[in-house]
This record gives sequence, structure tokens and C-alpha cells, in this order.
Amino acid sequence: MAVIEQIFPSLTWRIRHVTMYPHQPYDFVKLEHDFDGIHFGIYVDYELTGVVSLFMEDGIGQFRKLAILPEAQHQGLGSQLMTYLIDFCKVQKLTKLWCNARVNSTEFYTKFGFHQTNQTYSAAGFDFVRMELVIQYG
Ligand SMILES: CC(C)(COP(=O)(O)OP(=O)(O)OC[C@H]1O[C@@H](n2cnc3c(N)ncnc32)[C@H](O)[C@@H]1OP(=O)(O)O)[C@@H](O)C(=O)NCCC(=O)NCCS
Repeated sequence: MAVIEQIFPSLTWRIRHVTMYPHQPYDFVKLEHDFDGIHFGIYVDYELTGVVSLFMEDGIGQFRKLAILPEAQHQGLGSQLMTYLIDFCKVQKLTKLWCNARVNSTEFYTKFGFHQTNQTYSAAGFDFVRMELVIQYG
């Protein structure tokens, strides 16, 4: 059974590194503002298996570095974490949630109601597009 908990920032780093940037130095995955964020982990059989980080400002949330360990992908864990994150944003009464999505992951976010904007960029060998979700209440 999968359990989602709020976790310390440093616990995200190994999962981010292994999943997203294994060929970069370990410190590459540490974010300047990590200690201002709220971080969630999904545990499977007590093992930390996936992470996501939320940064809130003026009623708007940005999530970063959603990562499910490669061997645990396509089992619904990313979807569980995303559903939990959106519910958390509602508790926080946020109006919008956005991310810079890797273009090969946009389909995943579309399932949750995110729409693509025309803001794109490339970094560290990946193409990104900004995606936004208007949070619905009631
Ligand atoms: C993207 C990611 C978080 C999805 O988590 P997950 O646990 O694999 O996703 P789920 O099992 O809940 O849902 C997967 C479904 O989303 C859709 N999907 C679309 N693009 C996808 C992608 N790049 N990876 C996984 N699923 C994707 C598919 O419909 C997929 O269904 P399938 O498993 O039947 O093919 C995970 O694959 C991951 O960590 N990828 C590497 C890092 C990454 O790209 N992070 C996002 C950066 S923006």
C-alpha cells in the first residue's frame, strides 16, 4: 500500500537524482529555494519511492521535480501523488498550480486538467513547457 507524507527537503534529492538527472552531479538536483518549499513523498512498503516539491507564492503554487523511481513508474504512484498535491493546494486555497513540464510528460499532466501555455524553454538537454491548472472549488 502506498502512503504519502510530508518529508524533509533533503529526502527528495536522491529520488530526483536517480530518476531525473542520473548523469548530472548529485548537487545538480538541489534547488536554491528547497528550504522554502513543502515536499511530499510516496512510500511503498515503507520505502520512499517518489517525491514532489511545492512552492507557494501569492496564492499560486508551482510544483517542481515530480519523480517516481524508474522501476516503480506506470503503477499509478505519480497519479496518487499528483491527486494528493492538488487536494493540498485546495486546502491552501490556491487559485492556480503550475509547472515546467518536460514535453514528454505533458500527457500525464493533461489527465489532471493542466493546459499547455506557449512558454517553452530548453535546459540540461530537456525541452520544457509551462503547464497550468486553474484550481476548481465546489
Ligand atoms: C512522469 C511520472 C512522474 C509519472 O509517474 P508514474 O507513476 O509513472 O505515472 P502513473 O503510473 O500514475 O500514470 C502513468 C500514465 O500517465 C501517462 N503518461 C504520459 N506521459 C508519461 C510519462 N512520460 N511517464 C509516465 N506516464 C506518462 C500515461 O497515460 C501513463 O499510463 P500508462 O502507465 O498506462 O502508460 C514518472 O514517470 C516519472 O517520474 N518520470 C521521470 C521524471 C519526469 O519526467 N518527471 C516529470 C518532469 S515534468
